[in-house]
This record gives sequence, C-alpha cells and structure tokens, in this order.
Amino acid sequence: MTVSEQEKWADADYVSQVPLDEIDVSQPHLFKNDTWQHAFTRLREEAPVHYLADSENGPFWSVTTHEMTKAVDANHKVFSSEAGGIAIVDPMPLDGEQLMRDPSFISMDEPKHAAQRNAVSPAVAPKNLAELEPLIRERAADILDTLPVGETFNWVDKVSVELTARMLATLFDFPYERRRDLIRWSDVATAVPKVTGEDNDMTARRDALIECATVFYQLWQERAAQPPKFDFVSMLAHGEATKHLSEDPLLMLGNIILLIVGGNDTTRNSISGGVVALNQYPDEYDKLRHNPDLIPNMVSEIVRWQTPVIHMRRTALEDIELGGKTIREGDKVVMWYLSGNRDESIFPNADRLIIDRPNARQHVSFGFGVHRCMGNRMAELQLRILWEEIMKRFRSVELVGDVERLSNNFIRGISSVPVQLHPH
Ligand code: HEM
Repeated sequence: MTVSEQEKWADADYVSQVPLDEIDVSQPHLFKNDTWQHAFTRLREEAPVHYLADSENGPFWSVTTHEMTKAVDANHKVFSSEAGGIAIVDPMPLDGEQLMRDPSFISMDEPKHAAQRNAVSPAVAPKNLAELEPLIRERAADILDTLPVGETFNWVDKVSVELTARMLATLFDFPYERRRDLIRWSDVATAVPKVTGEDNDMTARRDALIECATVFYQLWQERAAQPPKFDFVSMLAHGEATKHLSEDPLLMLGNIILLIVGGNDTTRNSISGGVVALNQYPDEYDKLRHNPDLIPNMVSEIVRWQTPVIHMRRTALEDIELGGKTIREGDKVVMWYLSGNRDESIFPNADRLIIDRPNARQHVSFGFGVHRCMGNRMAELQLRILWEEIMKRFRSVELVGDVERLSNNFIRGISSVPVQLHPH
C-alpha cells in the first residue's frame, strides 16, 4: 500500500465507504500514522463482532466494544490463550531460527497458567511494592534532576526508556549498569515483520535472544543457590511450579521475556503517552497544576487513553454465539483493547483525556479475567511516582515537535516526543 493510500484511513468519508467485510484493523500503518479511529468507530457501531476472511494474519474475528472485549477475556474456558497464542500473529515454529513465541504463562490455559503466575506474582504484590517505592522514587527523581533544561530532547529516550529500564532492573535485581540490555532484548523480542510491517533482521534478533537467555541462565543459577528473595529471577528459581524451567532454555527464556516485555513497552509508552496527552489537552494540564491530588486518577486515565497493548488474541475451543455471530471452534478472535477504551457508551468523549474522568479505572488496558495484567499495580505506582516528581519540578513538559509512532499492531508505541522543560 502506498503512503497516500495509507493516509486515506484518516478520512472518515473514505473509511465509511470501505465494504464492512473488508475492513482490516490489523494493518500496522494505522498505528504508525495514528489513523485507527474511524475504522474502529465503524466496527463498534456496525459490527462489534466482525469477521475478516482474509488478511496478512489469515482470517480473524475482531471484537471492538467494551462489553464484547470483557465477554471474551472473561471466558477463558472457551477462549484459549494456549491454542494459538496471544497475538494476532500466529506462533512460529520453535525451530531455533525464530524464537518468536517462547512458551510462558501468558500463553497457557488453566491450571498450568495459575501455578506459574502465582510463583512470581508476589514480586509485584502491594507489600513488595511498598518496600520498593523509596528506591523507585529515588531512581525517578535522579533522572528528572539530570535532564537538560533549556534544550530540546527526546522524552522517550531520556525519561520513558531510562525510567523503565531502572524499574525492570529493580524488579529483576538485574545488574544496574547493564539495565539497557533489558530494553534491547525486549525491543528485539517484539519486532517481527508481521507485527511491524517492516523488514526486521531476524538473525540479529535470534542472537540477541540467545544472549538474553545466557545472561539469565547464569543469574538464575546464582539465585537458585542463594536463599529466596523478592525479585523475579529468585522467585522463578525457587517457585515450586517454575524451578524446573531452567532445564528447558526455551521455557526459561519465554518466562523471562514475558516479564521484561510485559513491563517494558507498556510502561514506557504510558510515560510517553501522558506527555503527549497533556499537551494535546492543555486545559487538563491546567487542572493537574491546580490539583496534583488528581494524579492517581490521571494515571488510570492515561493508561486508558494510551492503551499500550493494542490487542490480545484468543482461539475458540468450541463453537460459540457472540454478539449474534457464530464463532467456530479453532477461529482466531482478537480483542481490540484500544477500541474498547474508546467505547462512547462507557467513556463519553472517549478520544479526549479527562484526568478526573469518574470511571477511568474501568478501562480494559490491563485486560480482564485470569490473565489480567500481573504488573498493573507496579505500572500504576511507577507512573504515579513519576508524575508526582515531575509536578514538584516543572510547570510544563512542553511538546515542541512531531510525535513519531511505531508501525506495530500489538504495542501502541511512541518513538519520539521532542520536549522542552519549564521549571517552576
Ligand atoms: C501500563 C502498563 C501495562 C499495561 C497496559 C499492561 C497490559 C497487559 C495486558 C493487556 C495483559 C494481558 C491481559 C489479558 O490477556 O487479559 C498483560 C499481562 C501481563 N503483564 Fe502487563 N501491562 C503493563 C505493565 C506491566 C508490568 C510493569 C509488568 C511486570 C513487570 C507486567 C507483566 C505482565 C505479565 C506477567 C502478564 C501476564 C499475566 C498472565 O498471563 O496471567 N505488565 N499486561
């Protein structure tokens, strides 16, 4: 598709004339150009459960309303995470060449899923987070105190990525000076052509993932030999349901990558998205300046507005009626969280950031059901601390150039947010 053809998706008249059964909301350019809105609005209004017979990713169902998304996510007995993976891209064969879908508990059904999740979830439970809070705050404050005031710089690199790297290093108790490796491994793990629509270097990707597995294997052995601690590696190495994982490098890698990727792109893009949103809606930024107590609610609203994970996929284990349509056993069903979060029947004025929106917490950005994001409290804590520390220092983080986004139908990624800081 040429660039001018892609641009047509920004035009409501054009989108209204595309035959309904040909609308493909999985095209990565929609997210790169931020032109997904009309296509999803049309599906929500005309076909909340929609079938596309042919696409880059084969045939698939799309669910786009808040209600339908929850209905699928809550019904894990019928809608499996294991049968076909969790992304619209089908899992690739584990032939060593691709290492794309390494098995981990996000792509397992019960009871295996719960056993493995429970082994690591205490690392991000409220008690552990309360203990980590001072360190997270210190690491966030340190970043903000060394930013170049008076210059234009990319907020994504200097704040979103760096802060996320520090958070992940804290959660894994990973060597602090090597923290950017976590980001590099996570970035390559999610960059495959069908997701990005680009020509990713799969050999470099494999090499990076092997390096990741090697480093974590060593860390795992060290932690296994020490008394248990509250970091992810130690918990995996000591957990009843997970301690055997190191015998199978792919299983170990899968779970490590899940924890890195789960926390990386998502937190990073919520940090970037918050700056974009507050600049797009300056009256909301004013509201925040007058009332910083709104920060906790604003954090939920930013996570709704940004929706860092665009979709999750399930596979039907049996025939089922949904929204008046019959989904057949084996069909691919995609829950478009980004669209569920723009459902006007739940969120009036849904495209707008409203930092005191009363029901912001009803967003589906963390999913719903047994796979609901394990790190959601960690993410909220990180964002709350960051905005508290920003508001202490700066009257404004001003957007001074164009925002650049990733070509990716899974992660709603922002690569560039040029800003200037205005201290109090
Ligand atoms: C704003 C930030 C975040 C967002 C929007 C987000 C989003 C999601 C979503 C949509 C799911 C799948 C839910 C489902 O299938 O129903 C998920 C699962 C998961 N997330 Fe997050 N996430 C965030 C931050 C984090 C962090 C900080 C961590 C950990 C460090 C994390 C770890 C996980 C894990 C381990 C799972 C798998 C849970 C399971 O299968 O039981 N996430 N997340």
